[in-house]
Amino acid sequence: MSLRTQVGIVGAGPAGLLLSHLLQRQGIESVVVERHTRQYVEDRVRAGVLEQWTADLMIETGIGGRLKREGMYHHGVMFRFAGRTHRFDFDQLVGGRCIIVYPQNKVVADLFDARAAAGGQVITEAEDVSVDDFANAGDGATAKIRFRKGGEAQEIECDFIAGCDGFHGVCRPSIPAGALTVYDRVYPFGWLGILAEAPPSSEELIYAYSERGFALLSMRTPQIGRLYLQCKPDEDIHEWPDERIWEELQLRLASSDPKWKLTEGKVLQKGVTGMRSFVAEPMQYGKLFLAGDAAHIVPPTGAKGLNLAAADVVVLAKALKEFYATGRREQLDGYSAKALRRVWKAQRFSWWMTSMLHLFDTDNAFDRRRQLAELDYVTGSHAAQQTLAENYIGLPME
Ligand code: APR
Ligand code: PHB
Repeated sequence: MSLRTQVGIVGAGPAGLLLSHLLQRQGIESVVVERHTRQYVEDRVRAGVLEQWTADLMIETGIGGRLKREGMYHHGVMFRFAGRTHRFDFDQLVGGRCIIVYPQNKVVADLFDARAAAGGQVITEAEDVSVDDFANAGDGATAKIRFRKGGEAQEIECDFIAGCDGFHGVCRPSIPAGALTVYDRVYPFGWLGILAEAPPSSEELIYAYSERGFALLSMRTPQIGRLYLQCKPDEDIHEWPDERIWEELQLRLASSDPKWKLTEGKVLQKGVTGMRSFVAEPMQYGKLFLAGDAAHIVPPTGAKGLNLAAADVVVLAKALKEFYATGRREQLDGYSAKALRRVWKAQRFSWWMTSMLHLFDTDNAFDRRRQLAELDYVTGSHAAQQTLAENYIGLPME
C-alpha cells in the first residue's frame, strides 16, 4: 500500500509527536511511523523536567490541560555538598522564570491524545522501517519511508522526512558515511535510577555531590519520588537490592540539618543508564532532517534532553511553515545551523554540570578540592548563580 503526505516523521517520541502536532496547527500534513506500541513508548521511564518555555508551548498550542493541573512549578533548585545545602532562587536570579516537573511519559501521552483527537495519523508497530530517496534537497525523486505493518509492505511518499527516531533509530545511519561529523564523549559512569512510592523528601530537586559519588533527588508526583545514584557504567542492577540503594542514597544525600530526613518507600522500578555527550552534524541531509536524540544526546545532569528535542522541532516546524507558505528554502537550509547553536550551548552546560558534580576515577585529591572550590564559587557568587540558573531554566529561544 502506498500513502502520500507532506512530512513523513519517523519515531513517536516527544520530538516526532510534537513536530506532528505543530505542523497540523500550521495546516501541514504529516504521518508518524513508530516501531513500538503506544503503550511501550508511553511507559518508558525517562526525563522529568520541562524548561518553562516548553511548558508554555504545550499550553499555548492546546495540549497543556493536564500539565496545568499536575505539573509542579519549581522556583528553585538545591545543591548539597560538604554538609551544606544551597538553594538557587530562580525568582531572584532569573526574574521569576522557573522549571516544571512533569514526566516525559505524560508529555508523550498528552501528545498521542492530541494527535488522535485531531485525526492525525500515527502508525505504531511498524516493522523494518527504512528511509530512501532523500538525498536530493531540491525536486528530484520523492523521499520515501518504507515499513511493514501486520506483514504487509507499505510506503509513504513525502516532501520531507523528519528523523525523530532517537539515538538508536534508522535515520541517522541512513545518511551516507562521510556526510556527518560525530562529536562524542562517553562518561566513565552511569546513573542507577529508581522510581519509588515515597513522597519526595524535598519540595525541590537536590543535586548532591558527595565523596561516595553523585546523587539526585527528583520526583514524579507529590507521592512518587525519582532518585538517582552515580554508579559504574555497566553496573549490575542485581547487585543492588532495594535496601542497598536506600542505604547509599541516605549516605550521599545526608544533610547537616537534623530535621531533614530522606523518606524511603517501595521501589517501583529501577535501572541503570550510561551517560554520554553526542552530536552529529549537520542535522540535515537532502530532504532528511534529524531532530532530538536522533541527532544529539546529553548527559541527564542538566535536564536538557527533552527540552532540546522540543527546541529542534520548533525550529523545523517554523522552517517548514515558511517553505509551504512561500516556497522559500532559507529557513530549511538554515535549520541545522540554528538548531546546533542551542544544542552546543546545552551540551556545554550538561557537560559542565556533570563534571562539577560527579567523581571521576581518574581524578585525584587535587581534583576533589577543585570541585569543592567550584561548588563553593557557584553557590557563593551572584554572577555564577545567575549563570547556572539562566542555563538550567533554559536559554531564550531565538
Ligand atoms: N522506526 C520507527 N521508530 C523508531 C525506530 C525505527 N527504526 N527507531 C526508534 N524509533 C522510535 C522509538 O521507539 C521512540 O519511540 O523513535 C522514538 C524516539 O523517541 P526518543 O528516544 O524519546 O527520542 P526523542 O523523541 O528525540 O526525545 C528525546 O527522549 O531519550 C529521551 O532524554 C531524552 O528527553 C529526551 C527525549
Ligand atoms: C528526573 O526527574 O528524571 C531528572 C531530573 C533532573 C535531572 C535529570 C533527571 O537533571
